[in-house]
Amino acid sequence: MANNKETYGGVDFDYWAYLENLSDGEKFIIETYLDKNAKTLEAGTGGGRITLSMQQMGFQSLFAFDYIPNFIEHARQRDKIGNVSFAVEDATALTYHDDSFEQLVYLQQVLCCIEDKYARLSAFKEAYRILKKGGTAIFSFLNFDSRIQSNFHKGYIGYVQILRKIFNSEFSSQYIPRLKLAGKPNLGAIFDQQPYMYWYQIEEVYQIFKDVNFKIVALGTDFQLRQENMVTSLELLKKEPIEGMLYFICEK
Ligand SMILES: C[S@@+](CC[C@H](N)C(=O)[O-])C[C@H]1O[C@@H](n2cnc3c(N)ncnc32)[C@H](O)[C@@H]1O
Repeated sequence: MANNKETYGGVDFDYWAYLENLSDGEKFIIETYLDKNAKTLEAGTGGGRITLSMQQMGFQSLFAFDYIPNFIEHARQRDKIGNVSFAVEDATALTYHDDSFEQLVYLQQVLCCIEDKYARLSAFKEAYRILKKGGTAIFSFLNFDSRIQSNFHKGYIGYVQILRKIFNSEFSSQYIPRLKLAGKPNLGAIFDQQPYMYWYQIEEVYQIFKDVNFKIVALGTDFQLRQENMVTSLELLKKEPIEGMLYFICEK
């Protein structure tokens, strides 16, 4: 059974390697919360889509990593200006020094690809460790609270949990098979086949950031991003529509 690392390095490689441009939401969050002159690192860059878009936006000091060496080689080739520092690194155990970066970009579910609970926590701690005091980090997550609102997904998650009971699998309902691979429907999802992505609950992420010592300055889902109106506390978000991906803006 394939895990996420094998999948990104294999069947999913071409899909992520050649993507270009930012979504409107990504553009808004980057323009609103990041400074173009600050030293900035992107995690899980794949083919470099986000970092190379930021280069075009005028970001001056860009670093990016991925744990798939072929993505890094490919991203370096796509960097026609040649001023991005790309590296092969694993988000759960980085080799960057403490306080190395003024800004971090952890968009596109990079922290949801990590299957092991303790490794996921290590990745949060590593992000905190390499960020400078006063620096800003932006994160996005697959949002379990939003997904469970859809009857289709609720039914699918329930069905998968029955399969897991039958086959004695201990994965919680927040581990969901990828419904698409390489941009196409993944039939393996019908049989609960791995790779799984980990879908976070909003309060869970909030608590992890608190435990790791990040200060949360703004949060929201795709709904708040579309309105260009992120909220500043969990209590405020609970009063708003919850829709799509989950975003956190944090400071150290
Ligand atoms: C959904 S893709 C996003 C790629 C790119 N950021 C984009 O938006 O086009 C997730 C990326 O995270 C990388 N990744 C997943 N887990 C990682 C880890 N533990 N360390 C480094 N990279 C990781 C994968 O190889 C993949 O390139």
